[in-house]
Amino acid sequence: MRILITGGTGNTGRPLAAALRARGADIRVASRNPGNAADHVRFDWADPATHGPALEGVEVAYLVPPPATLEPMPLVEPFLAAASGVRRVVLLGSLAVLPGAPGIVELERAVQRMPESSILRPSGFMQNFLGAHPVATGIRERGEIVSASGPGRLGWIDAEDIAAVAAEVLTGPDPAPEHVLTGPESLSYADAAAVITEVTGRPVRHTEVSVAERARIFGEVMPQPFARALAAIDAEIRAGTEDRTTSAVEDLTGRPPRSFRDFVAAHMA
Ligand SMILES: NC(=O)c1ccc[n+]([C@@H]2O[C@H](COP(=O)([O-])OP(=O)(O)OC[C@H]3O[C@@H](n4cnc5c(N)ncnc54)[C@H](OP(=O)(O)O)[C@@H]3O)[C@@H](O)[C@H]2O)c1
Repeated sequence: MRILITGGTGNTGRPLAAALRARGADIRVASRNPGNAADHVRFDWADPATHGPALEGVEVAYLVPPPATLEPMPLVEPFLAAASGVRRVVLLGSLAVLPGAPGIVELERAVQRMPESSILRPSGFMQNFLGAHPVATGIRERGEIVSASGPGRLGWIDAEDIAAVAAEVLTGPDPAPEHVLTGPESLSYADAAAVITEVTGRPVRHTEVSVAERARIFGEVMPQPFARALAAIDAEIRAGTEDRTTSAVEDLTGRPPRSFRDFVAAHMA
């Protein structure tokens, strides 16, 4: 059974590829820059000519949507049209519902029309506190996390735990229609700042801003419409819509999800 991993070099795709490789699965890691690795394949959402070759012999696909767009369907439609041999698609969705994004709902409906499908709905990624994400640069450059979510909490999840779930859902029996995935506890940005301060010994504070200001900050690293939709989620978080945890990671993988404290300790450098 050949498994295609779109977003195969990303936060969830990379650990998913490692997990499936360790099981001896036949995988194809999709990337715009596949290099020379034997199990990598060139794939670009914006270049439909790459879709068919990437899908050759593929029965099961992990679908990470085209990044930072509220209109994924023009890019995903040619892919699904070329996926006639694919039996199962596991879509990386989100617990947060982006406002004003019917195209994302449309993508979910299209995936649900595949013979077998499942939608993973993770909470916020702990990986947002690493690398080039605005939360991470704020921490490194100013010891500051900026949000418009006030005391609202969310069940931060390590992308490696999402990958571990994805490995099970891709290869296991007929999958459930969706899985809501969270870490073990719900934390506000101020709680997260306190954990980082405690674990690293470096003071990090939370600063509350307006939704418009958060959109401006996101807009520095992504297109404006997507930045505005992402910032609007802060108002939802403030209202408590993401303040929940589930047992899905442990139910599906047999081990509890990683805590934020453990994650910070592991990524302190
Ligand atoms: N961050 C969160 O808190 C959060 C929460 C819930 C849900 N999500 C969802 O998680 C998904 C992944 O987000 P992420 O930030 O973690 O991204 P990511 O998966 O780490 O990175 C994006 C991936 O997409 C690939 N990619 C980029 N442009 C591409 C293109 N034109 N064609 C083909 N592949 C392309 C990149 O591969 P190459 O560069 O190798 O081509 C990379 O592997 C998003 O759909 C997001 O909505 C995120």
